[in-house]
Amino acid sequence: MTKALMARLDRLLANLGYGSRRDVQALVSAGKVTLDGVAIKDAGLKIAVTADLPDHLKIRGVPVDPPAPLVLIMHKPLGVVCSHREDGERIYDLLPRRWQIRDPALSSVGRLDKDTSGLILITDDGDFLHRVISPKRHVPKVYRAVLDRPLTGTEDAIFASGTLMLEGEEKPLLPATLEVLGEREARLTITEGRYHQVRRMFAAVGNHVTGLHRERIGGLALPDDLAAGDHQILTAAQAEAVFDV
Ligand code: URA
Repeated sequence: MTKALMARLDRLLANLGYGSRRDVQALVSAGKVTLDGVAIKDAGLKIAVTADLPDHLKIRGVPVDPPAPLVLIMHKPLGVVCSHREDGERIYDLLPRRWQIRDPALSSVGRLDKDTSGLILITDDGDFLHRVISPKRHVPKVYRAVLDRPLTGTEDAIFASGTLMLEGEEKPLLPATLEVLGEREARLTITEGRYHQVRRMFAAVGNHVTGLHRERIGGLALPDDLAAGDHQILTAAQAEAVFDV
């Protein structure tokens, strides 16, 4: 059995975004922080940092947030950006405010364009993030695209060829799978994550993407009941489903 990591309560709650260590000390002095139903008296108490921490540790009777490693699945709405550096509303603005100051920080696993909706993973687990986006793993990403012009019938062979070159690049794309859903609608599965890849692939065959939505990453699909802008916390086993392909 691996030994649970122990952390001082004030540091742990400060890292989860509940305020400064002084703020946490004030909460403890006011008897607002309980461990298994009993008010904690000492903010320096050492706590075992385990995934089931929210079952034991409460603030004003409300379970604390799960400690790192945390993996979230979000239904990214249109018009919201994934990067901390871009202007405009960010995916992080759709999460509880304290999650923006968690340490370790949350980052998106890859990015979706502002004009793309659908499944985005957000995590503070660098190892998980790198495993998902690693070019060596070829984790499939599935997109539904709406197009400006009717499909010609040649796109599937071109995308599957492994020879398609995107403008400005030196290496051909790996084979991708196209499923035609309608005259101007298709599902595309890619195993790379090049910049604006799906839009540039359709541009390379003379079309234009007018709507793009990510349905799935590996074995993890966007739940039908997860509304745009909403998120869910994944268990470690649910997050690992990404690699079940
Ligand atoms: N490909 C794109 O062109 N845009 C995205 O957001 C994702 C994949």
